[in-house]
Amino acid sequence: MSGRIPQYFIDQLISRIDIVEVIGTRLTLRKAGKEYKACCPFHNEKTPSFNVVPDKQFYHCFGCGAHGTALGFLMDHDHLSFVEAVEELAARAGLEVPRETTSTPTTHKPTQDHYTLLEQAGEYFRQQLRNSPAAIEYLKNRGLTGEIAARFGIGYSPDAWDGLIKHLGQNDAALQALVQTGLLIERDSKQGFYDRFRHRVMFPIRDARGRTIGFGGRIIDQGEPKYLNSPETELFHKGRELYGLYEARQATRQLKQLMVVEGYMDVVSLHQAGITYAVATLGTATTPDHLKRLFRACNTVVFCFDGDRAGRAAAWKAMEVALPVIGEGQVIRFLLLPTEHDPDSLVREEGQTAFEARVQQATPLSEYMVSELSTRFDLRHTEGRDQFTAEAKRLLSVISNDSYRTLLYQPLADALGISVDRLRQLIPPSGTSQNNLGRAATSTPLDSTGRGSLVRQIIQNLLHYPTAARALNRLDALAQVDKPGITLLVQLAGELQDEPQLSTPALLERWRHRPDFHYIDKLLLKEPPAATLEIALDEVKKSSEKLIADQFPQEKFDELMRRFHLGALSQEEKQELRELIKQQGLR
Ligand code: UTP
Ligand code: MN
Repeated sequence: MSGRIPQYFIDQLISRIDIVEVIGTRLTLRKAGKEYKACCPFHNEKTPSFNVVPDKQFYHCFGCGAHGTALGFLMDHDHLSFVEAVEELAARAGLEVPRETTSTPTTHKPTQDHYTLLEQAGEYFRQQLRNSPAAIEYLKNRGLTGEIAARFGIGYSPDAWDGLIKHLGQNDAALQALVQTGLLIERDSKQGFYDRFRHRVMFPIRDARGRTIGFGGRIIDQGEPKYLNSPETELFHKGRELYGLYEARQATRQLKQLMVVEGYMDVVSLHQAGITYAVATLGTATTPDHLKRLFRACNTVVFCFDGDRAGRAAAWKAMEVALPVIGEGQVIRFLLLPTEHDPDSLVREEGQTAFEARVQQATPLSEYMVSELSTRFDLRHTEGRDQFTAEAKRLLSVISNDSYRTLLYQPLADALGISVDRLRQLIPPSGTSQNNLGRAATSTPLDSTGRGSLVRQIIQNLLHYPTAARALNRLDALAQVDKPGITLLVQLAGELQDEPQLSTPALLERWRHRPDFHYIDKLLLKEPPAATLEIALDEVKKSSEKLIADQFPQEKFDELMRRFHLGALSQEEKQELRELIKQQGLR
């Protein structure tokens, strides 16, 4: 029982238990409005200043400043260790505490070696390509240039069972590592190993930092399967990775849009044609993780599918996955290709300009949704209209972006030929916005003094309104901002985007054993900068944009110019623009 308690369990525990119950068995709580009061157990007092706030699952003493979650209370009040407090709460909730199995000793750090090994394998495949006229001929026949093959690190795995073994499998440890990275397969009877990839064109799959984490291999000519991918490993997760994302980022520093296609060859061929914002999922349907990753890099995602039945089904599926994820200002479009084409064949046939004209005209999600619903159901009859409405209701219910959901009523009502008000009666709007502390809903100006740095304000808003993390749609750019606290901010936001349901107390517990715990703990005590979630979303978005613009003068310049043309510059901003022009010789 010595393994670590997994994080998910602590999150789950926090969401299950009720702090009022936990503290109520130890102190006499008196209800006061929405909160509970007691005499503080941590200092001597006659009038109660100890508050328990069920909405926030927090306690706070205004007399001595003690505060925290239910877990924290047990640690301080009952003098329990963290683990003991978890066990105590779990027992109350009737849960068993799971432990992570520690099969790999903690001193063993395979990860770095694995990156190196995968890189060496990629290098080996590239060298094999240079020695294989047949493979070179295949790539040429498919129209690839040497330049693009080099940009994507394309290689070739020779037609042998032990090519890689001979090259990299010097000893037992190396062989084991090759198995763990998915490059070798161990024979059933443990009688040795063989190369997973044989006689295939090898596409290295790279992570956001350009490190090779897996491979896709296309059979040369005929054979099954056509594409073989690395298995799931410690480093490679199909449902998260996007082929070509690293290369797209290399090509354009500030991506405006990304286009998701289906195949490796589609990506490579599009990049060769100058469409360097193409990425592909790896033989899987689009996942929420994919979308979050895409929206971290830019604001517009175009899904490009073949125009056949399978493509249309995939488009619908992608829409369903996207609806809960779309945040403010984020746009999804759909591009369905002519039936006999995939992106590779089409761009080869008609070239960059014609293909990009299609991308320009891709159908926005709202329009796509309405037109698909209109073809699925026969709107001439009441029954069809009823089915349309039921399906629309289901789709609307999963959208988390309030304003987007509201806006969709119009086109849906138009398709049905009824008023928006009438549709509101049929599908009652369900606001999801949280109300916090019932303070006045007035926005605070961005730069008002005394509120700490912008970074700190964003962190504070995120701590109080974890779902506001969805407003940060350019984490990559933010990560490059040179300001204290930025690392913490990006980490916090990344985790919240991956797990939007995390509550404030769960967040605090997650940080308990991390270096920045005391900083976060202290920030939580202060009132949140924003009074409501809406305001927090707005502030987080504006503050982060400002941080990014300040870091990247070109963006700042573009933004000032845009506003200059609108006649919207303040005196200060005009001065700023003049400075920028002077500094950079821009005009
Ligand atoms: P396609 O079968 O559409 O192939 O698979 P393609 O991309 O047009 O490939 P070429 O042009 O014949 O070379 C699309 C994607 O589906 C996954 C791969 O990611 C592929 O790029 N796939 C396909 C597999 O993972 N395994 C397969 O056997 C086939
Ligand atoms: Mn193809």
